[in-house]
Amino acid sequence: MSGAGPVGVGVVGAGKISDQYLANMARYPDLDVRFVADLHPHLARAQAERHGVTDSGTTEQALARDDVELIVNLTVPAAHAEVASAALAAGKHVFNEKPIALDLAAAEALVAQADAARLRLGCAPDTFLGPGLQTVRRMLEAGAIGTPLTASAVMQSGGPHLWHPNPDFLYQPGAGPLFDMGPYYLTALAQAFGPVARVAARGGTAAPTRVIGKGPRAGERIPVAVPTYVAALYEFESGAVAQATFSFDTPLERMGVLEITGAEATLVAPDPNTFAGEIRINRGGEAWQSVPATRGEHGRGIGAVDMARAIRSGGAHSTDARLGLHVLDAMVATGASIETASFVEVASGFDPVAPLPEDWDPTELTLA
Ligand SMILES: NC(=O)c1ccc[n+]([C@@H]2O[C@H](COP(=O)([O-])OP(=O)(O)OC[C@H]3O[C@@H](n4cnc5c(N)ncnc54)[C@H](O)[C@@H]3O)[C@@H](O)[C@H]2O)c1
Repeated sequence: MSGAGPVGVGVVGAGKISDQYLANMARYPDLDVRFVADLHPHLARAQAERHGVTDSGTTEQALARDDVELIVNLTVPAAHAEVASAALAAGKHVFNEKPIALDLAAAEALVAQADAARLRLGCAPDTFLGPGLQTVRRMLEAGAIGTPLTASAVMQSGGPHLWHPNPDFLYQPGAGPLFDMGPYYLTALAQAFGPVARVAARGGTAAPTRVIGKGPRAGERIPVAVPTYVAALYEFESGAVAQATFSFDTPLERMGVLEITGAEATLVAPDPNTFAGEIRINRGGEAWQSVPATRGEHGRGIGAVDMARAIRSGGAHSTDARLGLHVLDAMVATGASIETASFVEVASGFDPVAPLPEDWDPTELTLA
């Protein structure tokens, strides 16, 4: 394995989201994507050809490559832990799509495995590293709203079966609106408030099946095994509280509502499932003020860039898996609260990482 220059990357999982990652990573010169793998090697080949990657094949082949140091795991949630564990066992660093695993025991085992092997494990989302949420974080730390005390978050839509060609996994454990979209909102809230301490939630499943809306399988009926509407109240260790709605049960799409309030002002963050967007602040009475986010060309994959730079420098990476584990813990607790109709404690925590420098640029070559 080389210890200098751009970090060699193997992508595992050549499905829907791999397009965004592969297109972006080709523009981030500190990453060099050398292999695309999938359970179905023909899918890997097609994505490799489309994005100018020379080699493709099976996961085993990706893990056997000496010139691959970092595996970007874009498989479905049910495969995240198995693929990540195999990659760590093969001596690779791993950036996992969210959620980090289906359950806490699997996530904790992965973190322990990475620590024991002195390898890096990171977890999506990396949207919070974008200029939008980084600017929010800097504003909060500079006291723009006073001490952050409350927040409201809303993510509601008709559900991803309307547009995803293979949406089965999105209605199975590891997804649904809570586990699929919750990570964006809960990661953003954890950046603002720190760790969650306990949660109370209610929710349910409006329909036992869904009909695929688009693609070759349009018209096919798929089962729903998870809650599809959730309302939750999160209490943070700081004493702050946030209310959140996650729903795939409405024709009215309302994405990315994230409002954070302190005693001195209310701040509206950009959609936490995006990298930039408008930030607005209201100090009461007067009109809303718009705040420009810092510049930058950011998209899915910047978490892998940040990790690649940390691999070379020896510093911390921003998407440390303990944050992903904590977000999973908060989501599992949300599900448990729905089942028990009681508050559920969230035991895990995470170490806060410093915001990125304002001029942090994933398109810059720093690992020459
Ligand atoms: N689709 C999106 O808009 C989106 C956005 C952000 C994050 N994500 C996340 O990205 C991940 C993948 O989502 P997607 O929409 O691309 O799913 P997808 O079903 O379109 O693609 C997943 C791919 O992984 C492959 N795969 C499954 N198990 C595997 C295994 N054990 N080994 C190797 N390959 C395996 C499948 O063959 C498939 O090609 C999920 O964790 C999802 O939450 C998706």
